[in-house]
Amino acid sequence: MTHQSHDILKILILHGPNLNMLGSRDPKLYGRLTLDKLNKKIREKAKELNVTVKIHQFNSEEKIITTLHRQRKICDGVIINPAAFTHYSFAIRDAIELIKIPVVEVHLSNIYKRENFRKISVTKDVCIHQIYGKKENSYLEGLEYLVGYLNG
Ligand code: DQA
Repeated sequence: MTHQSHDILKILILHGPNLNMLGSRDPKLYGRLTLDKLNKKIREKAKELNVTVKIHQFNSEEKIITTLHRQRKICDGVIINPAAFTHYSFAIRDAIELIKIPVVEVHLSNIYKRENFRKISVTKDVCIHQIYGKKENSYLEGLEYLVGYLNG
């Protein structure tokens, strides 16, 4: 067993800064869903996979880091979209590395086909997998991947 000792897997979903504004951001990059609608799809997928999800969105780096620390012994794995922090937050990278539970990085847009500064992810090497460019499906595929990984 690679996960904590309880029957149903608990997955933490973390949305980073500005993702509360989904629906008002460029739909070509981010899709048309609001964050509430995206979360609804994530919950449906979680139900299908028979796992529970705890979902948070934070605009601050501090809250993302503190939540990773606090949840590390409660949750079995994490799906994170660090948003713009992806490209420069060594603090979030360190937090992902130290929690020692598997983390999957997801992005709605294809960060490799945009501005140069977005092509760098400082967090991806401490994650078990990265999925990008599939709009909301990045999260849904990320969840499937993480659950498959945890179930070994
Ligand atoms: C994003 C990509 C980031 O470059 C950007 O800053 C975001 C969202 C995405 O999901 O495509 O806010 O992480």
